[in-house]
Amino acid sequence: MSNTWWKDAVVYQIYPKSYYDSNGDGVGDLAGITEKLDYIQSLGTNVIWLCPIFKSPMKDNGYDIADYSVVDPIFGDNNALDKLISEAKKRDIKILLDLVLNHSSDEHPWFKAAIEDPNSPYSDYYIFKQWDKPTPPNNLRTYFDCSVWSRVGETNRWYFNSFGPEQPDLNWENPQLRKDIINMINVWIKKGVAGFRIDAIGNLKKSPEALSEYQFEPDKDDGSASLVPWVLNQPGIDKFLTELVENTFKPANSMTVAEIDVPEKDLRAYVGENGYFSMVFDFSIADLDIRNEKPFTINPITGERLKPVFIKSQLDTQRVGWGAPYLENHDQPRSLNKFLPKGAINVTSAKMLATFLLTQRGTPFIYQGQEIGMTNCPMTLEEHDDLHVFKLHEWGKKLGYSDEQIIEYFNDRSRDNSRTPFQWDREINGGFSTGKPWLKVNPNYVDINAEQETQDKHSLFAYYQQLIALRRHSKISDILVYGEFSPLVSPENVIAFKRTDDGNSVNIYCNFSGEEKALTIKAKDIYLHNSPIVEDAQGGLILQPYQAIIFA
Ligand code: NOJ
Repeated sequence: MSNTWWKDAVVYQIYPKSYYDSNGDGVGDLAGITEKLDYIQSLGTNVIWLCPIFKSPMKDNGYDIADYSVVDPIFGDNNALDKLISEAKKRDIKILLDLVLNHSSDEHPWFKAAIEDPNSPYSDYYIFKQWDKPTPPNNLRTYFDCSVWSRVGETNRWYFNSFGPEQPDLNWENPQLRKDIINMINVWIKKGVAGFRIDAIGNLKKSPEALSEYQFEPDKDDGSASLVPWVLNQPGIDKFLTELVENTFKPANSMTVAEIDVPEKDLRAYVGENGYFSMVFDFSIADLDIRNEKPFTINPITGERLKPVFIKSQLDTQRVGWGAPYLENHDQPRSLNKFLPKGAINVTSAKMLATFLLTQRGTPFIYQGQEIGMTNCPMTLEEHDDLHVFKLHEWGKKLGYSDEQIIEYFNDRSRDNSRTPFQWDREINGGFSTGKPWLKVNPNYVDINAEQETQDKHSLFAYYQQLIALRRHSKISDILVYGEFSPLVSPENVIAFKRTDDGNSVNIYCNFSGEEKALTIKAKDIYLHNSPIVEDAQGGLILQPYQAIIFA
């Protein structure tokens, strides 16, 4: 197999708790995914990224692993995973597992041993600090908006966590920990997984400052400072990554997609020909609506705001290697709500976004439900089930924000928006489960569901099928997969680009606005479009509201 087989793949991401519940306990499971493989195959996707399925107390839905070697019982067992892998293989679908290497659960036996006995060798698997004051050693704030230091009971022992206190960071300075991790990964490789999505990998190396008693310049009114500058891409991380990839993914020719925001100057080391990973997720587009300076507000995304960010992301990646475009994942709200103004969400605009994603350079990732147009789901605080939501709420209250403001923000931005159960049909709970679903089902399942979408040849699902087929099995496949990306000059709120391979090219125009946009160009061969073509007297295209066209 070519060592870049993943370049022409289209990936489907599954959040197992919310995909399909085969045993009626209210939680999705591996057998449920296996049952739905024909559906996934019919979409045209040929790789599945499974969010974590390992044993976990599920404080962060599996991103807190208590045993890297077994499947959590809520999802089934290791045999169920073997079955999923082999059934997927019959359909030419490969499986990627999610590796959480920066931290474990506080219920991992390593951590328990370290807590029980400070002299245990496992104490050095984590980052402990002696500190005899009741407040944390420094004022760094985690990705989940709480202190990076958690205290062990009433003792003078504190440990470092980059996310929640239930997720103590692993100490990558310890060679034995690194060996254990490498061995664990190789066991999964032997089982036949095609690769991995790798969580929070940029955080492995901590700066000495992060672990010190230094009080950082606050960036928020509560006196705290973000941990990011002190734990992301720190000097020395290259040694950990080199050792890791040389002893696991590289010899196995695994597909790897790492969750890490890499500065442009370092990108080649990560995704270049000899880079650590096949590709990395870039956050610049997904987080464009976040306003760091003004918590609990969002900065709506327009085509015009998106344009330069998108072009930069494509060009920066193209210069050195390969990318992993996406519009949604389990940490983001639904793309229809994020990239379209309220009131403009409809099948045409959803198809425009699909066109935008599936014609980019890089391996595209589709998140479960995106292909049927699932949307954000308003929830009360009690209906949420996300550690970050809870921590953020606590923090917001401390800063004086009202519940109303915080909940309004969650309704736009919480991660639970995309984690609601998959909407299969019009039956109870959207056909997801016969039991009580672990998270609220979006009541719009009666109108938005897979059954309806797969029966309608003009649906969003059908359009995704066409786009994926165009990308993977058509005469312009090479152009759409391997073609060079170049931006085209375009009217306000229109994103346009060209893909060129071996002298042949196609143009992609996506109108991110509700207005007509007159172009002076004519379309020769039109490969796909989401609404009727309108031309002026000279044959120039007049892009319709939210129209997308792929043409030569
Ligand atoms: C990123 C994952 O995507 C997210 O869901 C998780 O909460 C954090 N990393 C911590 O593992």
